[in-house]
Amino acid sequence: MDSCLIFSGNANLPLSEKIAKYLNKELGKINIYRFKDGEICVKVEENIRGKDVFIIQPTCPPVNENLMELLITLDALRRASPRRLTAVLPYYGYARQDRKDQPRVPITAKLVANLLVSAGADRILTMDLHAPQIQGFFDIPVDHLFAAPVIIEYLRNKNFKNPVIVAPDVGGVKMARAFAKRLSASLAIVDKRRESPDKVEVVHVIGEVKNREAIIVDDLISTGSTLIQAAETLLQHGATEVYATCTHPVFAGDAVERLNKSPLKEVIITDTIPHTNLPSKIKILTVSALLGEAIKRIHLETSVSSLFI
Ligand code: R5P
Repeated sequence: MDSCLIFSGNANLPLSEKIAKYLNKELGKINIYRFKDGEICVKVEENIRGKDVFIIQPTCPPVNENLMELLITLDALRRASPRRLTAVLPYYGYARQDRKDQPRVPITAKLVANLLVSAGADRILTMDLHAPQIQGFFDIPVDHLFAAPVIIEYLRNKNFKNPVIVAPDVGGVKMARAFAKRLSASLAIVDKRRESPDKVEVVHVIGEVKNREAIIVDDLISTGSTLIQAAETLLQHGATEVYATCTHPVFAGDAVERLNKSPLKEVIITDTIPHTNLPSKIKILTVSALLGEAIKRIHLETSVSSLFI
C-alpha cells in the first residue's frame, strides 16, 4: 500500500482518520485554507507524483463549501501528477436533483458529476447514492458501496421477534427488500406523497405491520418528516415499535430535535456525515472499515463487489 496516498478535505475529518487507521496509514499532508474573502486555497505538502491518490470528502452541509473545497483540492492534486486520482464521496450531495421532474429545472447531480471529472477525478468511490443510476452520469469508473452490511449486523444483534422492513416510499423498495431478505423479515411499503419539498403526507401502508417491530430503511434523513410521518402511521396500523435506519444523516434544520421527540424507538445512522452531541436515541455506526477496505481493493485491483456477497 506504499504507493497509495489518502488525503482528506475538511468535511468529515473523523471519518477520514478512521479510514486511514483501518489502512494503517497517515493521512496525506495537505493545507486547505481560506483567504479573508472566503476563497479556498489548497497546498499539497508532499510529493504525489506517480502515486495512487484518494481524496475523501462527503459533500454534506455546508454542501456548496464542501463541494467547492473538493473541486479545488482535486485540481491541486491532479496538477501534482498522480498516477490516478479517486474522489471518495461517502455522501454525494445534490443526488436528489437527478432528473427533470418538472419543466425548466436543473439536473444538478449530473452537473456535479461533470464538475468532479473536470476538476481531475479519474474514478469515484461513493456510498448509497440516492439513485444508483447516478453512476451513469459519469464516463469514468464508479464504485458504489452499500452501508447495508454494517446496519444489518447491528439490527441482527437486536434479535427482533417478528420484524417487518418498511420502505418509506416506493423509491426505497429495492433497498428495503435487500434488508428484508438478509434479516428474514417481511416487507411493507409506506405510500408517501410529498406536498412540497419539506412537507410529507402519508397515504397508505402496503403490507402487514400489525404486532410487528417495524424497521424503516432509508438512504437519507433530511428534515426527518418522512420518517416521523411513517413512524406515526405504522404505529396507527398496529406496529409494536418503530425503528429507523439511514446511511446519510443530513439532518437539516431542527431534524434532530424532531426525531428525538418522535415516537421512533431508535434512529440508526452512519458516519458518512459527521455529527456530535446527538441524543441517545440516535445510534451512529461507522462505515470506515467498509470504505477503507474498498480503497484497499481499488488500489490492489481486486474485487470490490465481492465485499457485498
Ligand atoms: C426520498 O426519496 C429520500 O429517500 C428520503 O426519504 C427523503 O429525502 C428524506 O427527506 P426528509 O427527511 O426531509 O423527509
